[in-house]
Amino acid sequence: MAEKITLSVIKADVGGYVGHSAMHDDLVNKARECLGKAKGKLLIDFHVTSCGDDLELIMTHQLGEGNEKVHKLAWDTFVTCTAVAKELKLYGAGQDLLADAFSGNVKGMGPGVAEMEFVERTSEPILIFMADKTSPGAWNLPLYRIFADPFTTAGLVIDPKIHDGFKFEILDVLENKSLTLACPEEMYDLLVFLGAPSRYMVSRIFRKTDNEIAATASTQKLSLIAGEYVGKDDPVMISRSQSGFPAVGEVLEGFSFPHTVAGWMRGSHHGPLMPVSFKEATPTRFDGPPRVICAGFQLANGKLIGPRDMFDDISFDETRRLANQMADYLRRHGPFEPHRLPLEEMEYTTFPKVMEKLAGRFKKMS
Ligand code: F6R
Ligand code: MG
Ligand code: MG
Repeated sequence: MAEKITLSVIKADVGGYVGHSAMHDDLVNKARECLGKAKGKLLIDFHVTSCGDDLELIMTHQLGEGNEKVHKLAWDTFVTCTAVAKELKLYGAGQDLLADAFSGNVKGMGPGVAEMEFVERTSEPILIFMADKTSPGAWNLPLYRIFADPFTTAGLVIDPKIHDGFKFEILDVLENKSLTLACPEEMYDLLVFLGAPSRYMVSRIFRKTDNEIAATASTQKLSLIAGEYVGKDDPVMISRSQSGFPAVGEVLEGFSFPHTVAGWMRGSHHGPLMPVSFKEATPTRFDGPPRVICAGFQLANGKLIGPRDMFDDISFDETRRLANQMADYLRRHGPFEPHRLPLEEMEYTTFPKVMEKLAGRFKKMS
């Protein structure tokens, strides 16, 4: 049997420069140094990048998903980078490292993780999406469009290799349960859940005919992990593409509409998800609007050939323009919903304190 490759994307915010807007080069360089020592040993290859204030470690190896050694390498890298962030007094140094010491797997300890294991095909184009100032529910709409909507993915209609459709594994983050639904036959049931992205999030997608992994997303919700707000979960997502999966352009087409996501300022506002080039992944206006970048790679025996900056293309200019218009429109609501999130979803709130202060002033209506 052909050998399997594991692709692990593990990310954390270990300090922002300036504020929560971007990443300092020293952190990226330090992370490269840390992972560089493991190349050719634990890792086949790696690539370090950033999206906004998030440090993104992209790694290939043959140790499978959830491997303790790989997760420890990522954790130790974040700890080392936190020390650099502290030296420079970067903002929120170490903010996503919720535990004092590593305990087997970074899942549940703060960092976001998306991993998949597969036999590398003759040619294996991979797209890695990384977002800042939003949460994993942000992937629901584009993933639905890519893997279930024939108006986005022409191949669902005209390519015999994907005409049977895909299965969506969704996670109920409140009750920690998962459910798998197949498309197109269970599409309407699926949309009941996907349309509620603060609770139900796509975690994995499989090709229906042979259960081959097609996409995987990070579904850690930091606020639930920590029991209180400690930072946004700023998710990552991996999609395979071409021959038997949606084409590269079909996957990217899923992001051509800048849909409204939760996050932005103080993790408490709705805003458009704007697909941008690597260079433009620096959310500044009202700490946003939320951004997504896409790094494209060809795998060659586990080696990461790339990245290509997939949203660095004029064909996404109108998407970005619409996103900026939406940002203007939503900003004009100020502290009103639906710009501000509903009370129970805000990550910052003065509500209990204000209620306590005014408790005696509420008058019963007759
Ligand atoms: C955090 C974020 C920011 C902060 C905001 C306030 O990921 O995106 O919008 O929530 O800048 O930050 P603090 O409370 O640290 O001053
Ligand atoms: Mg931050
Ligand atoms: Mg971030």
